[in-house]
Amino acid sequence: MRLESTVFLVAFCSFTAYYIYEPIPEEIEERWKLMLTNSFFRSLSHLADFSELLGLKDYMGVMYFITLLEKIAPVSDEHVMVSEQKFDGVEVVLYEPRHSGDDASLRRSVIYLHGGGWCLGSSRMSPYDLLARKLVTELDAVVLSVEYRLAPPYHFPVPYEDVYRVVKHFLQKGVLDQYHVDPGRIVVSGDSAGGNLAAAVSQQLRNEPGQEIQLKAQALIYPVLQALDLKTPSYQQNQDMPILPRTLMVRFWSEYFTSDKTFFKAMLANSHNSPESLSLLKFVNWTTYLPETYHRKYNYSAPTVVQKAETDQSLSLADPRASPLLVPDMALRSLPKAYVVTCEYDVLRDDGIMYVTRLRAAGVEVMHEHYDTGFHGAMMFTVWPTDFQIGQHLTENYVKWLKENV
Ligand SMILES: *[C@@H]1O[C@H](CO)[C@@H](O)[C@H](O)[C@H]1NC(C)=O
Ligand SMILES: *[C@@H]1O[C@H](CO)[C@@H](O)[C@H](O)[C@H]1NC(C)=O
Repeated sequence: MRLESTVFLVAFCSFTAYYIYEPIPEEIEERWKLMLTNSFFRSLSHLADFSELLGLKDYMGVMYFITLLEKIAPVSDEHVMVSEQKFDGVEVVLYEPRHSGDDASLRRSVIYLHGGGWCLGSSRMSPYDLLARKLVTELDAVVLSVEYRLAPPYHFPVPYEDVYRVVKHFLQKGVLDQYHVDPGRIVVSGDSAGGNLAAAVSQQLRNEPGQEIQLKAQALIYPVLQALDLKTPSYQQNQDMPILPRTLMVRFWSEYFTSDKTFFKAMLANSHNSPESLSLLKFVNWTTYLPETYHRKYNYSAPTVVQKAETDQSLSLADPRASPLLVPDMALRSLPKAYVVTCEYDVLRDDGIMYVTRLRAAGVEVMHEHYDTGFHGAMMFTVWPTDFQIGQHLTENYVKWLKENV
């Protein structure tokens, strides 16, 4: 009996250790905490795969549990007034300063777009709520957090269009007056997929006929910027990194466009490009846009172009509203100044760096902050029990930049 239980215990412990333990680079701080956090994400992902296999609930439906876990009802407090509204039919959570120093003075504004791969996440998650309050109190800003609809029920371009509608509605003189917002001090910002939406909106707004009020700045936190090459050095180096392994990012991309699994498989193999994207591959050529140091040990090979596309989703792939990196230099020239955060241990690192290179070459003022010990999603890990020092560090620098530039 005793022997049996000992054997069982040893087996159980080694299984648990095997499951939780992952080779996480030494440079990353609070490694064990990240391992534990990630083992939760991995377990949920396995459960989601299993559930989909059994036909119980689709993968993203199960993954959405992460969002629910952190969802709260945003309420006003002594410093911040919170209201839930609809702007042109789209839900937003609006955070306003309660005591403005001088009632006559106009305020800054931050339009914030949450991350979650266009499939997960919510303005009402505690880390986003906490960040919004910080922006209100530290910047005396009005924060507009957009609750855009999500894939897979709402594929591209719905999430993008929801955001665009809100931004256009907000950037009207009458609406800004109502909230005492200075039309010259508005920034659009977001993390991960939110950074993708922020970059896309910044570009499209410049082309909008009759749009008088424009954005002063764009702040992109480890943004997703292109769907053509999913084998950049950072995608290869970090394919098994915590929080956002390559398969999950590819999954997000494919779900953004379609629920068709053949497209997901084609994207995994990086052979999802059709002849339509051939002329755009030059915009994601990392040998051109990544500084040598980020090439690491990888050799360039152009993504495979398949004559007969697996699905007809290839056209959306090349749409700059989904892949903002795919516009010609001309379209970058008039963009507002940018703040771009990249993390070393992130599949999306190279997307961000390539955009920095291209924006700078087009004459746009860019502040690039690269975190050598950063991992994807770090800025949102600020709430117990998944609070990380690096999350605080990223937040401080982000707020500082906004303070000085908006
Ligand atoms: C990428 O750049 C390299 C070197 O500059 C070049 O040899 C290659 O043809 C380019 N490929 C594409 C698809 O643009
Ligand atoms: C890259 O190319 C060089 C020279 O052809 C080769 O020696 C090296 O092994 C290649 N690296 C990888 C990671 O394939």
